[in-house]
Amino acid sequence: MRSQFRNSIFLGLLTLLGVSCSTTSVPTFPSAEKRERSDFVAHGKQGMIATAHPLASQAGLDMLQHGGNAVDAAVAASFAISVLRPQSTGIGGGGFLLYYQEDKRSASAYDFRERAPQRAHRDMYLDSSGKPKGFSYAGKTIPDASVNGHLSVGVPGLVAGLLRAHRDFGSLPLSIVMAPAIKIAIEGFPVNLELANAIVRRLEVLKNFPGSAEIFVPKGKPLQLGQLLKQSDLAKTLRLVSLHGADVFYKGEIAEKILAEMQAGKGIISAGDLRNYAVKIRQPLVGEYHGYQVLAMPPPSSGGVHIIEMLNMLAGDDLQKVGFHQLESIHLLTEVMKRAYADRAKFLGDMDYVDVPLDRLLSKEYAFRLRSQIKPQRITPSLELAKAPQVPHESPSTTHISVVDRFGNGVSTTQTINFTFGSGVVARGTGIVLNDEMDDFSIKEGVPNAYQLVGGEANAIEPGKTMLSSMSPTLIVGAEGKLEMVVGSPGGSHIISATLQTIINFLDYKLPLDQAVHAYRFHHQWLPDEIEVEYGVMPLKSVLTLQQRGYKVRVATRGMGDVQAIARSENGWIGVSDTRSIGKSLGY
Ligand code: GLY
Repeated sequence: MRSQFRNSIFLGLLTLLGVSCSTTSVPTFPSAEKRERSDFVAHGKQGMIATAHPLASQAGLDMLQHGGNAVDAAVAASFAISVLRPQSTGIGGGGFLLYYQEDKRSASAYDFRERAPQRAHRDMYLDSSGKPKGFSYAGKTIPDASVNGHLSVGVPGLVAGLLRAHRDFGSLPLSIVMAPAIKIAIEGFPVNLELANAIVRRLEVLKNFPGSAEIFVPKGKPLQLGQLLKQSDLAKTLRLVSLHGADVFYKGEIAEKILAEMQAGKGIISAGDLRNYAVKIRQPLVGEYHGYQVLAMPPPSSGGVHIIEMLNMLAGDDLQKVGFHQLESIHLLTEVMKRAYADRAKFLGDMDYVDVPLDRLLSKEYAFRLRSQIKPQRITPSLELAKAPQVPHESPSTTHISVVDRFGNGVSTTQTINFTFGSGVVARGTGIVLNDEMDDFSIKEGVPNAYQLVGGEANAIEPGKTMLSSMSPTLIVGAEGKLEMVVGSPGGSHIISATLQTIINFLDYKLPLDQAVHAYRFHHQWLPDEIEVEYGVMPLKSVLTLQQRGYKVRVATRGMGDVQAIARSENGWIGVSDTRSIGKSLGY
């Protein structure tokens, strides 16, 4: 109560001072109140896993300790977290996975993101006057058809992607790897604060769809904190996949139920869309930063391109000299972010459909040119970099898993159903929460998506195309070919900036990994032209200094990102889960 009172005084003060606050309470990291920072840190000589839920980390650790490798652990943790965080991820979604094999010094990039159905078309979310339209269901209109309901669903890729990675590199039987997820779905787990809050946030959408209401709003009441959530349909679905493989999901019994749900809600995913879903094995991007190799996800992730682009811009600066969390360094990083996110909107899209000037965006010369435009005393107005309009919105979602095994191999994988609870639709009889990844396309040039990200022509909807993503699974490899760091984050548009800041906090500022992850973050995504800050952890003095300097400052409604990071240490590995959420690192 006292802290609420204190928060409201601070917010009142900030509002008077002109700092915009998009929430009624100062953001506090939910778990930071209950656990010590050290609870989010683990040490291990042989292997390590960091995920956004202790039970998912345990599932991965069990694989590592029973002879499995990093891919076994990542796949086990991915299926487990699909059950444990239905608000963020799941087998109705998709993702990216980067795998590094130390002995071969080779990396593989798996793209199992959702694809646009064949009946999708460019203006499918616009009404006759060209404005974003609502979704009609059971006689009701729910706003934003690209975010809510059956039309927002992209063809899911998670099952195909995880099973393909497991087939290519896993060493334990699939039945063993999927067993923890099935057990958690059958036995249930207590609803935590994040899940309870997420249900309340999306209640107006969830309660419309019978498959979702049955699970998350039983008898019309949202699940409460501490209540046991058992997901028997999801357990059956997972068991079918563990017995019969991906075909049962894309061509068999599960596909039939997904298609029946589509028909009931006038969705457009067809049997052909599911049958023809294909995982894409891509060439990882390789950057160079202070003698390290930065391995990152290529398009349709924008994260990899822009992390390398931003690191290239920063490579000539001695960040220690510029200062840590000083006005000068925040200014420099903000200007760097602004330029990268402007490029994102201009150039990025699915390279199977559009030309993305990758060579230019990743070249040191281009980065040098951008860096030379940044002046210590000048805030570049965003519209000087490119032109586009803006509208507000934000949501945390998605999840990240980092793993290393006893061979020195590593997996960095980020997975999502997009917005909180995706489309809000559960395919009846399956327990699968269907994604709303179609909103990651630019539904109209210049119209921002749910993360306020403005897209352009390159990311327009086309049948079969993959929507642009911010997911940035990253691996950092040292000169000897040894894996040094595994990192990534959820958080919509914050993914890229949270991952970047963790990398430079660790590599440039030489902070211990836990401090590199826990340090407060800031974010600028070109549009809206404002710097978003984690006030509450960022001192008030710094917020006001930024404002006096001329920045439009927005206080984040919650922690930015939920980084899961692993780095090599003197005695093996250190794993750090972000205090911004409830994750856990486990090593052995
Ligand atoms: N759906 C969030 C992302 O892929 O960036």
